[in-house]
Amino acid sequence: MYEFHPYFTHDGSVGLYSPEFNDIYHSTTGALTEAYEKFVYPSNIDYLIQSKQEIKVLDICYGIGYNTKSFLNYIFEKFSKKIYPYTKHYAPIHTNKNNKSTNNYSPIYTDKNNENNRVNIDSIYANNNSTTAEDEKNNGAIYSNNVFPKVSVTALDNDENLFYLSPFIKTGEKNFRKFNIDIPCDKVQKYLADSQKSEIIKIDDLINYYIYSQIIKKSPEIYQNSEIVEILNTKNLSSFFDQNIRGISKIYQNWKTNYSPLESFICYLHNIYYHHVSLSYKKGLKGSIFDNIYFDFKCEDARKSIQESSDIYNLIFLDAFTPSKCPCLWSFEFFKLLFDHLEQDGMILTYSSSASVRSAMIEAGFYIGNIFCQRENKFIGTVAVKNKSLIKYPLSEFDLGLLKTRAGIFYRDENLTAQNEAIIAARNLEVKNSTRQSSSEYKKLYHASS
Ligand SMILES: C[S@@+](CC[C@H](N)C(=O)[O-])C[C@H]1O[C@@H](n2cnc3c(N)ncnc32)[C@H](O)[C@@H]1O
Repeated sequence: MYEFHPYFTHDGSVGLYSPEFNDIYHSTTGALTEAYEKFVYPSNIDYLIQSKQEIKVLDICYGIGYNTKSFLNYIFEKFSKKIYPYTKHYAPIHTNKNNKSTNNYSPIYTDKNNENNRVNIDSIYANNNSTTAEDEKNNGAIYSNNVFPKVSVTALDNDENLFYLSPFIKTGEKNFRKFNIDIPCDKVQKYLADSQKSEIIKIDDLINYYIYSQIIKKSPEIYQNSEIVEILNTKNLSSFFDQNIRGISKIYQNWKTNYSPLESFICYLHNIYYHHVSLSYKKGLKGSIFDNIYFDFKCEDARKSIQESSDIYNLIFLDAFTPSKCPCLWSFEFFKLLFDHLEQDGMILTYSSSASVRSAMIEAGFYIGNIFCQRENKFIGTVAVKNKSLIKYPLSEFDLGLLKTRAGIFYRDENLTAQNEAIIAARNLEVKNSTRQSSSEYKKLYHASS
């Protein structure tokens, strides 16, 4: 029987405990907060929105999808604040007094002679070589001076049940404390008792609907999966699932009995995009953003999926279990593989600051830097880039010295097929036989001399 142990974290989002690893999947402060602070905010996302026509994201270790959802939610919120109705002929007004374009796309100027103060989009594009009205139709909605970029997310995880459950997971809950369940994990209890709380963030429902529709499209057999059905119907777990999306899923299941799979799928999509999306005008506007978002997923070992792909990404989120538990996704060879799949101005983001991970990244050819968290005023992870100028918080002299100690000996996985246990055993042996200084010795000497 599949074990699924959810609990509410400090920001009201659901965290998971893994009995297999006796570890938690999500951070102390909150699953969503972590996703924003470690993956979305430091990702240079605003620059990407301004400068790219397509943003390609690889989410390694998707789990229940917080990193992908937060990334999409950020873009979603950003655009929905500024987005205006777009029809074939008219665009909204943006007065640009200085007549300056801040990016590749031409701004849209107010046409005072035009009735209703609206601008004919075809005339704008007639004078604009970089983007045509046809492009606009294909590429998306208008945000300030920008065209909404195409966003493609590829999500990888080897646990298919988590994928299928991910759209059902509640992503923000005000009264979450009363739902805590008793699980045998001291860490979780400690975190829940901690007085520090974070702000409640909520992912827009439409993102869950969208991900759900993409999962169904690719894996309609989700409803034959008895484990999923059982988990979704377990009474004491229901507080962790969004009732709206469960309702949609039930409607879809019932349709299945009356229509062919294709007919029911069309009905299903209709329901999502036309009923829910048109619930309000605001939501309707947000819904149009999905025309430019592509979500694909693979339920298998991430090493295999990436080796078989030729895609190059702007952003790679690496959210594997800690290196000492899942070294196969932190090895030198794995980072070499990621190097080949990252754009020249792309970025890998991870919560890990481990010396072994950082030295593997450097050995694979990356420049590395810290991820800084303003809320906590401390470094909370690592970025790896090919273009050094993207590093905002370089490593300190102390951090660099640490990489040369035994702690900086990296994991190896020559053929990218080894088991975690074998990778750990090989590194332990290398550490044991190493003549390098130990990290504790290094720290003592460093602090004594400074
Ligand atoms: C810390 S959790 C990730 C949490 C996730 N980002 C989220 O938002 O829920 C680590 C994930 O790594 C996955 N995993 C472990 N080994 C893997 C592998 N070799 N390939 C792909 N995924 C793996 C687990 O199934 C688990 O979901």
